[in-house]
Amino acid sequence: DAGHYDNGGYEHYLLKEISEQPDTVARTLRGRIDDRFHIAHLGGLDMDARETRSFRRVKIIGCGSAYYSGQIGAQLIEELARMPADAEPASEFRYRGPVVEPDTLYVAISQSGETYDTLAAVQELKRKGGRVLGIVNTVGSAIARETDGGIYLHAGPEVSVASTKAFTSTAVAFALLALHLGRVRDLSPADGRRICEGLRRLPEQIKEILTLEEQIRELAIKYADAPGMMFVGRVRGYPVAREGAQKLKEISYVHAEAYPASELKHGPLALISPELPTVAVVPDDELLDKNLTTLGEIRARHGRILMVGHRTSEAADDCVVVPKNENELDPILLTIPLQLFAYHAAVALGRDVDRPRNLAKSVTVE
Ligand code: AGP
Repeated sequence: DAGHYDNGGYEHYLLKEISEQPDTVARTLRGRIDDRFHIAHLGGLDMDARETRSFRRVKIIGCGSAYYSGQIGAQLIEELARMPADAEPASEFRYRGPVVEPDTLYVAISQSGETYDTLAAVQELKRKGGRVLGIVNTVGSAIARETDGGIYLHAGPEVSVASTKAFTSTAVAFALLALHLGRVRDLSPADGRRICEGLRRLPEQIKEILTLEEQIRELAIKYADAPGMMFVGRVRGYPVAREGAQKLKEISYVHAEAYPASELKHGPLALISPELPTVAVVPDDELLDKNLTTLGEIRARHGRILMVGHRTSEAADDCVVVPKNENELDPILLTIPLQLFAYHAAVALGRDVDRPRNLAKSVTVE
């Protein structure tokens, strides 16, 4: 209930929560990075190294933005721990009668810890003998109690209906989990160190991104009159694009669709026109050239492009440039300009930013 918490002088809780992220990310990391052995300390997992090594794959479940952060998590685990991992909406998982395996580590994500679909999926997993961890913000919540240990985000109460700081903290918690799983398997001390150092850089880099707010506000005003927007990204950029589209939909009511950039030519390219601008998430990684080629294809159809990445490009109409971290951690930083973009689009359109129509902060019924 918003009434209990101070808005800290911000016009909206959403902007307050976006602005808190240097601190909330630091809190998720606090005491959990070991710089001597380049490992993560995750006391809440309650699992020895032998048990940790016994899992062969990871299955992540959550709803809405929690599910999208789970997609970032799955990629982190595959990249750093080299374990097959994937994310699925909790309700879909529950209803398709999943095969529950003893060598799969299940991870349920929830800011509130009270989302019914996620809770019911956890209960179903436990009934079938699955080992379920929770990545949860609210201490003592139903999902925190039902899971066999996990990672608390320590991001503090999230009041605004649209999730922001819980999203980034969940991705950070997954980076720690991936580091932990990786360092009892194949991840080298050098790579462990690279990730530890990258994680430590995040709070300062988030501060730098927040200084771009005025530029992003102007861009939001420029693009907010479009009837709809396309969000694209490849691999690490794709969950970021999905979350960016989700934020825009929820609080500005502008129609937004997210697609893997590689899928555009298989259908949605037909939608591209000056009336449907594209937000392209383009990190400086091994897919940069492919992404720039996609921007050229959009350009050729007279689509306007706002690129969010690590450099400017003539292939885009506008560019937001964020600081670079390790490739694996970049999605965390690339998410933040899209939060600010959705926020300022919603403000420009006069929406009820903290309480968007038709939505509840936590969906505790089916
Ligand atoms: C996020 O902006 C949404 N309001 C929504 O998708 C949310 O993430 C989802 O309902 C899950 O909530 P939870 O994290 O509290 O389980």
